[in-house]
Amino acid sequence: MLAGMVPSTTAVLISLATLAAASVESPWLSPKPPMGFNNWSRFQCALNESLFTQTADAMLSRGLLAAGYDRLNLDDCWALHSRAADGSLQWDPVKFPHGIPWLSDYLKQRGFKLGIYGDSGNKTCGGYPGSLGYEALDAKTFSDWGVDFLKLDACNMPSTTGAKYDESTYAPIFENWHNVLIALPTPLVFSESAPAYFSREANLSDWHRVMSWVPAYGELARHSADIVNFATTGGGGSAWESVMYNYGVNTMLARYQRAGFVNDPDFLIPDHPGLTMDEKRSQVALWASLGAPLIISAWIPGLSEDEMDLLTNTRIIAVDQDTLGLQATLVSQDGEWDVLTRSLSGGERLLTILNRGESMSSHQVDLERVGLSSADNCTYSVQELWGGGISQATGHVEVGHVPAHGTAMLKIASDDTTCMTTIPTGMVFNTPSGNCLTNNGLGLLTVSPCNAADGQVWQVHPDGSLNTLSHKTECLTNAGNQSLSLSTCEPGVAAQQWVSHVSGNLVSLISGECLTIGGAGAGRRNVPTLAVCLDEMNEQIFGLPSGVNIVS
Ligand code: GLA
Repeated sequence: MLAGMVPSTTAVLISLATLAAASVESPWLSPKPPMGFNNWSRFQCALNESLFTQTADAMLSRGLLAAGYDRLNLDDCWALHSRAADGSLQWDPVKFPHGIPWLSDYLKQRGFKLGIYGDSGNKTCGGYPGSLGYEALDAKTFSDWGVDFLKLDACNMPSTTGAKYDESTYAPIFENWHNVLIALPTPLVFSESAPAYFSREANLSDWHRVMSWVPAYGELARHSADIVNFATTGGGGSAWESVMYNYGVNTMLARYQRAGFVNDPDFLIPDHPGLTMDEKRSQVALWASLGAPLIISAWIPGLSEDEMDLLTNTRIIAVDQDTLGLQATLVSQDGEWDVLTRSLSGGERLLTILNRGESMSSHQVDLERVGLSSADNCTYSVQELWGGGISQATGHVEVGHVPAHGTAMLKIASDDTTCMTTIPTGMVFNTPSGNCLTNNGLGLLTVSPCNAADGQVWQVHPDGSLNTLSHKTECLTNAGNQSLSLSTCEPGVAAQQWVSHVSGNLVSLISGECLTIGGAGAGRRNVPTLAVCLDEMNEQIFGLPSGVNIVS
């Protein structure tokens, strides 16, 4: 249990996070990550009216609505297999005897909103009618039914290339959906599943291309695999691996997230029997740290009190719903501990510590790693967010008794504004390979397996220069002739200034070239170099710390 964790000691850093320059067209539609319920992971196609009314009643009586969970979303299999004579979709009258408009009213009267599932292709993933060619009609139907949220899946899409998934057909179809939805009298919140279809390809270029347009068209995007499905596995399957997989993919995508658009790692599964209580708590903590949608797929009337407690912790939910809309990024990762951080709208700094190991243990994080100050004159107040306890820290923070697969969440603040001046700090990693840009201590740069060493924790300064905590006076430098060096930091030197793009490219200001892994010649796969920037090339895609200014 995390209640036993005691933050101790020292430390600092907050960054004035600068949001991505690209803008979401309608940030007012869903300014915060959506919260609610969806039937898919827990019940799959066994959805019906009474599941939704009983779930809504339980969400009301058990405090989930009060905690912010105000959506109930129908997933696949709500429709009949054929359209009506006028071409409209029809609900299954056996599953929904009073009809979907009635259900929408039932929910509205109790303070909830209804969402629905559709598919951009010829058929849904479950084989029900798809919306290809029926976009305007289906959008109007949903709107007339009182629905205000659409999860648009992307099975059975057309392909012009012969490839199973053809990115060039997805973009215009999703753009059209955006135009249709936004033109409705009450625009629908648009949840896009397009990226998920490209996330498992060996070459991730198409996946990143899809990620580059989803923020312009919708409010959230399912980026990867379905979270383990209770219904199909009967509660079996590797639930923790599934949670870790989807969390891990999310950490590759922080640069796309901003207030109004969130990366969606799929449902919370708090009653999955394959998860321990610590693992269930970790899923909520990680999703909240990522600022992800909190959409529960569980039998809510049957949740235990412990499960209810972990879903309704107001301090954890406040982090998820923070108005800055940022996603926490990795400070370090070594196989056993993941450390993440981001700024919060109250000026505080979030520190999240995941124990991926198999035994309870303690962990210490220097405050400089969180972007704050480790100096003796900066004393911070550290709130442990599960229990709410507050302690003081200078120099570093230590959490004790983090259980196997448990996650600690700490909120760090100081009244001294100079102590809260934050430097974006953390891993710079090639997201497709998962390898970290490293100052190896011998004056050489490598892109190596992440090990949490100081040589892999980068500070990114407002002028675009970068140095590691291990060698603060050595800056990443464009040394000419497509080569990089670690040279003495000199403020304002253009060869040491780097621009981070939403594409994932880290671009040298002086040459316009991209940081690239794999120099010429055998055995140089892990040697970073500079090369002409290509379109979403895997070797040129890097994740940077939260708070770095990102240009589109
Ligand atoms: C896909 C989606 C799931 C669910 C099913 C329905 O697998 O990723 O979330 O919507 O389709 O068929």
